[in-house]
Amino acid sequence: MTRLEKLYEGKAKIVYATDDPDVYIQDFKDSATAFDGTKKGTILDKGRMNNNMSARLFRLLEDAGVRTHFLGPDSPTAMRIRRLDMLKVEFVVRNVVAGSLANRIGLPEGTALKKPPLVEYYYKDDALHDPLLCLGHIEELGVVSPDELAEATRMARKINEILQKFFAERNLVLVDFKLEFGRDKAGNIMLGDEISPDTCRLWDAQTQDKLDKDRFRRDLGGVEEAYAEVLRRVLSEGVSAKEGD
Ligand code: TMP
Ligand code: ASP
Repeated sequence: MTRLEKLYEGKAKIVYATDDPDVYIQDFKDSATAFDGTKKGTILDKGRMNNNMSARLFRLLEDAGVRTHFLGPDSPTAMRIRRLDMLKVEFVVRNVVAGSLANRIGLPEGTALKKPPLVEYYYKDDALHDPLLCLGHIEELGVVSPDELAEATRMARKINEILQKFFAERNLVLVDFKLEFGRDKAGNIMLGDEISPDTCRLWDAQTQDKLDKDRFRRDLGGVEEAYAEVLRRVLSEGVSAKEGD
């Protein structure tokens, strides 16, 4: 597929137009940022690893009836995606306390949530540093309609169920993750963006070792190795959680 102009360059991806107005190409970069872009670095081979992982996980979701923007592979670091009008709200789904939730409510990282999953909404606004939104804020802003919010929240919960099981079969705990949704031409809500260790917290189920971007954020070392291990497990057959017991 022919790449035309660069439409957008973010911290971890570049989106290109193509000769089909309904199809874009999303190319994953090795660069990594954290803490609102204040920490910058490179994770070697991340672009290829995140592209392959996201492709596998989008296929898994599509097979389970979740609509996503994924159309197919394009290159080792890029995929073809459906053009979506992205919602200005990010969805964070949490099963276990970690990261900003630990800081916000003071529970130790690793505490299981009483009523998982917890779904949080964040405003995609760089100038405001992507603040947490409550439902009243979303209504006031009017950037996402009540129906769209309900549909995307329902999808986020279903995605959590599917991914939690898939990762459990690969000896990984899905602690939390961030999703971005968009509208297609007909107004259908679909999952966009990526699913990777940049956007998910994943812990080894036995050792609780962090196998995600927290290794970069917190200077824990072994960053590339963690991404490679997650890719290996995601591409593996997996073992049913019961059989593995
Ligand atoms: P948080 O604990 O920092 O709020 O992050 C929750 C989850 O969302 C975690 O899996 C990382 C992911 N995330 C992103 O993908 N992008 C972001 O900009 C932030 C802040 C978090
Ligand atoms: N990617 C985000 C940033 O650069 C945050 C993060 O993932 O920690 O700020």
